[in-house]
Amino acid sequence: MTAAEPATCEVRVAAVGDVHVAADAAGRLRVELEGIAEQADVLLLAGDLTHRGRPEEAEVLAGELADVGIPVVAVLGNHDYHTDQQHLVTEVLERRGVTMLEGDAVVLELNGVRLGVAGTKGFGGGFAGRTASDFGEPEQRAFVQYSKRLAAGLEQALAGLDTDLKVALMHFSPVQETLTGEPREIHAFLGSDLLAEAVDRAGADLALHGHAHRGSRTGITAGGVPVRNVAKPVIGCPYEVFCLSAERSPARSAG
Ligand SMILES: [Fe+2]
Ligand SMILES: [Fe+2]
Repeated sequence: MTAAEPATCEVRVAAVGDVHVAADAAGRLRVELEGIAEQADVLLLAGDLTHRGRPEEAEVLAGELADVGIPVVAVLGNHDYHTDQQHLVTEVLERRGVTMLEGDAVVLELNGVRLGVAGTKGFGGGFAGRTASDFGEPEQRAFVQYSKRLAAGLEQALAGLDTDLKVALMHFSPVQETLTGEPREIHAFLGSDLLAEAVDRAGADLALHGHAHRGSRTGITAGGVPVRNVAKPVIGCPYEVFCLSAERSPARSAG
């Protein structure tokens, strides 16, 4: 994929994470997304879609997305699990036309290019040399096994894609680089290098995540896949647009 100059973009991918839509927030996101169909071909949402994971919040978000005019693909974030109604949040959004991913993928034909998006919420566990281990108490083992399971789901979904371009969409971070700015002590709760390993083994042109509100914008996996933290407080705008084309080279932001 090239990150082509904006004028030669084959596919324009808009992305934002952490919109945290509350039940009384109707109208706010809608205004921010006005005109997005002129700027991008698809919108990816990198989790923390709602404030507390309530179905009524998902209804408000669905209303905000109703007129965007381009496909919307999303993963859940930890906030969307907070009231144990994540399945209802997913249902509400799917019913309203949003493609929700967790360990699976979608293929979109955009401007004659086949774009595959594979997604997972992902989970924590830490990074090289400082990772949580699958040992000891059942709660500790469950933590690590859950993180492994979600990373494996992403890998399988990515590996199953036979498309011109592949994007890995996550909420938790696959690399530590994009957490720069967050206290080091909590990095293990903000992401896991299991996600980066999954991305590198299965291959992707671009990896996107949110969750780290005080993190940094850019990083790269050990295998050379560009990583972008699109958490809304990090990008500082309603969404970021990435220009992708099928000739491989690192993705670049369009603006
Ligand atoms: Fe968030
Ligand atoms: Fe989060």
